[in-house]
Order: sequence, then structure tokens, then C-alpha cells
Amino acid sequence: MQLIPFEMERMQSTWENQVEYNLSESGVLPFQLKEFLEADELAQLWSIPISYGYTNGSEELRTLIAQQYDQAQAENILVTNGSSEANFLITWALVEPGDEVVFMLPNYMQIWGVAQMFGAQVKSFYLTEVKKRWQIDWEQLESVVNSRTKFIAICNPNNPTGAQLQPAEIKRIQELAARDGCWVIADEVYRGAEFDGPKTTSCWGNYDKTMVVSGLSKAFSLQGLRIGWIVAPPAMIQNLWAYHDYTTISPNVLSDKLACLALQPEKQAKILDRTRKILHQNYALVDNWLQKHSDIFDWIPPVAGAITLIKNRLNITSQEFSDKLRMKKSVLLVPGIQFQMENYFRVGFGGEPAPLKSALDRVSEFIAARKEHGA
Ligand SMILES: Cc1ncc(COP(=O)(O)O)c(C=O)c1O
Repeated sequence: MQLIPFEMERMQSTWENQVEYNLSESGVLPFQLKEFLEADELAQLWSIPISYGYTNGSEELRTLIAQQYDQAQAENILVTNGSSEANFLITWALVEPGDEVVFMLPNYMQIWGVAQMFGAQVKSFYLTEVKKRWQIDWEQLESVVNSRTKFIAICNPNNPTGAQLQPAEIKRIQELAARDGCWVIADEVYRGAEFDGPKTTSCWGNYDKTMVVSGLSKAFSLQGLRIGWIVAPPAMIQNLWAYHDYTTISPNVLSDKLACLALQPEKQAKILDRTRKILHQNYALVDNWLQKHSDIFDWIPPVAGAITLIKNRLNITSQEFSDKLRMKKSVLLVPGIQFQMENYFRVGFGGEPAPLKSALDRVSEFIAARKEHGA
């Protein structure tokens, strides 16, 4: 099997700890244990045997996760090592050589790469900017779904745009899938990180060939726990669990316990409130910076998540923009080409505000220098 490199993850793994300012991160400022746990909760961890635990996730955790979705029970849940393992297991279990997979772009490119490595042909459809909103190109989507399609993969809320699908749009995707009997795989890892209003409507519950992927890495600011999950019909969960025996066997038993604490309703509300405050505070800095560069940038403000995709009208490829910024200014951001969106770049703004501001100032210096040299 020929490896298709996951360009963004490879770039982040290589550079994120080398640069002074990392704007390539898509999460929100990670919790420290002392900020996240009360003393009595910490004490609960002391007596846990560091065993394999439940390889599909503890009953307690699966029950708490099921409560995040209408009409889901513990038997609908498989706990995984991050939502990335969830995406991998689903793709591995579903794709046979010769299948077609329909994939939303722009997107987190994991399923795109893995599906091809398992022998699928990936056909894409785009979110496009219509009336200041990222919207599905329906004509394109309808033209790529057919009887060979194994699944339609969407990301909602979307990475990298921060856009959110409306319930009617989700329904329309599911109706299209039902027409040809394929699955809908919805990566909802940014659900819960909305700037305002209620949680994004989940795809779960309306169409029986739906699987939802999510986890604690984004809205919950607990990326290092490596807790993700799949919501699927019980028979499919049993099937995916058998695949999971071949990957990581089980989630970390301490992470399982910490995830149970994070999903308690009261603590969950506090965590998501912290996320929302960080999003508002930090996006204000990004917005202020964008306004200063409105002669060269176009953008649609994100609805959810600490990420935004910006169109750049400087005469430079997105790869060159990103490489030169890293080399000259020690700032890492994600070039649009890694989402198949040339002339764009993604900024992650979930970190501490002061370094975010300094990083954006450095990007401004870079832009000023290029303008000065007539580029
Ligand atoms: C849409 C999406 N899915 C999955 C992942 C993987 O995250 P994790 O494995 O930490 O849950 C990411 C990470 O950036 C992502 O953006």
C-alpha cells in the first residue's frame, strides 16, 4: 500500500514545536489538570488500577456520550483514541477497493487520504462562499453520489472554515444518501464550540445509515486525553469494535475516567462556557487584524471552532506564504493548498491572546515587507 502523506499533520508534527508562534493548531487552549479537576476528583484517580480498562470504553463513559445525542444508548457508542482513530476505523471497515467515497472540501484530510489508501476513488464536493456564508455546492454533490458511493463524509461544524450546516442541509444530504443507499459519516468534533446559540444539530437520528465521529479534543480543550468516539447502529458498533482490537485495543483508562468527569452536565457546561469566552475574546483580535488587511484578505467569520479560513489576494502561493512566514517570522499557519484551497490560509486562534496578537503582528510585518518590494 502506497502511503499518501497527510500533509497538514506532517507539517504540524515537523514544525509546531520549532516555531515561536503556532497558528496551525485547531484546538482551544488545553486545560491544565489543576484548572480542570477539584481535589476530590483528583483523588478518584489515585485508586484506579492502570489496567486496559474496557476496550470499548467504560459503561459510564459510553452512557455519558450517548446523552449528547437524541435517541442514543451506550450500545450505540464505541470509545476510540481521539476522533482520528474513529475516522480511521470507519474508513477501514467500510471501504473496499473500487468503492467511491464522496468527500466534503475543504476538510480535515484524514478520510480523504485513508480512503484512497484502502482502494477507494474519492470524489469531492465543495463548500463555496455564497452571500457571506459557506454553502454546499449542491449541483456538484448531486453529480458525484451514485450507486458505487460507499459513504458521504462531511465535517460539521467544518474544519477549516468554522461554518455550520443548517438542519435542512443535513436532511438534504441524508436524503441524497438514502437515494443510493450509502452511509453518511459526519465528523462533528467541533460541535459544542459554537460562538453563540445552541449546539450544532447533530446528524445522528434521522437516517439509519449515519455514523457520527466526535471527541474531546476541540470544544472540550482536552486534546491530550485522546478520547474520541463513534455513534453508530449497535451492529456496526460491534463490527467497528472488532477492527479496534487491531489498532489500539483500548482507550487509556485514566483518560476514560477524566472524560467521564468532563461530560458531567455541570462540568461540561463550565468547559464549554470557557471555550466560548476564549473564542469571542480571541476572534476579536483576529477580526481587528483582518480589518486592517481588508485590501488583500476576504473572509467569512467562523460560526464555530477556533479556526478560520482566509482568502489571500497577495501574489504568492499558499505554500510559499506559509513557508516564508515560518522561515522569516517563525509563525506557523496552514496553507490552503493542504485543504485543496489555493490562495487561502487557515489561522487557529484558540491559544493565549498575547502570543496570538504578536503572531498576527508578525504576519503584518511580512505582508508590509512584501508590499514594499512590490510583490
Ligand atoms: C475535523 C477533525 N477531525 C478529527 C481530528 C482529529 O482530532 P483528535 O484525534 O485529536 O480527536 C481533527 C484534528 O484537527 C479534526 O480537525
